[in-house]
Amino acid sequence: MIDIESNVHRLVSAPTGAGKSYFVGWMAEKLYQAGKRWIILDTKTKNHIGLLSLPKVKLLKIKPHTSYNFWRLLDHDFVVCIPAERTKTRELIEQYRILLDVIFSAKKPVTVFVEEAHNYNPNPYVADDMLELIAREGRGYRINLIFITQSIQEFPKILWRQCKFTYLFKFMIPQDVAYIGKMIPDFAKINRELNLHDVLEYNHITNEYQIIRAYQVQRRTKHYG
Ligand SMILES: Nc1ncnc2c1ncn2[C@@H]1O[C@H](COP(=O)(O)OP(=O)(O)OP(=O)(O)O)[C@@H](O)[C@H]1O
Ligand SMILES: [Mg+2]
Repeated sequence: MIDIESNVHRLVSAPTGAGKSYFVGWMAEKLYQAGKRWIILDTKTKNHIGLLSLPKVKLLKIKPHTSYNFWRLLDHDFVVCIPAERTKTRELIEQYRILLDVIFSAKKPVTVFVEEAHNYNPNPYVADDMLELIAREGRGYRINLIFITQSIQEFPKILWRQCKFTYLFKFMIPQDVAYIGKMIPDFAKINRELNLHDVLEYNHITNEYQIIRAYQVQRRTKHYG
């Protein structure tokens, strides 16, 4: 249904509560089944905890101002990172930037799920340096990004343009629909065809799309989001 193993970057966006984390957890399960490595940079504590019920998935709780040997972390093929209690977003992102640097330097194939990807960037017109570098050059090492954001208008287009596929849920706010329409011309029409938890997969190379219906997204592990 979706070609999860190809060497591309992707963007997943939807209003809050639409099913982004549920959906990317499903993608992670598919990659896991195919033996493709991943690392999830989560911003909430519970989103992807369900994936820990799979054998060999490593959990790391990130604390602020603590130094980690992220190189050792990459010995694990499947990693879920979550913030420790009371970690502020800014402090968490500082740690994740260091981790992203290590991921890129290691040049080892991996899919990196970046939850709340809008939070990394100085502003909607300027991308985070590390994300931009990996978006531009990561595919050379089969390092693939999956950006996840509920704030599509705050997510830099310079990163979005590096994505071959965009996954969108139903949007309710007309300004968001109009904004997305600049990248995906038919979006207003397609959006009307989407029901709760349905996902549009849009291919920016061919301009082809498909709708993945909610019932087709069947999780194997429990989702706690
Ligand atoms: N395809 C689906 N079928 C059934 N339930 C779903 C589906 N997708 C999502 N849900 C349910 O919808 C709720 C919200 O999903 P999820 O946590 O993934 O949203 P989100 O977009 O990540 O929200 P947030 O912006 O708060 O992170 C969850 O209870 C989840 O179980
Ligand atoms: Mg979520």
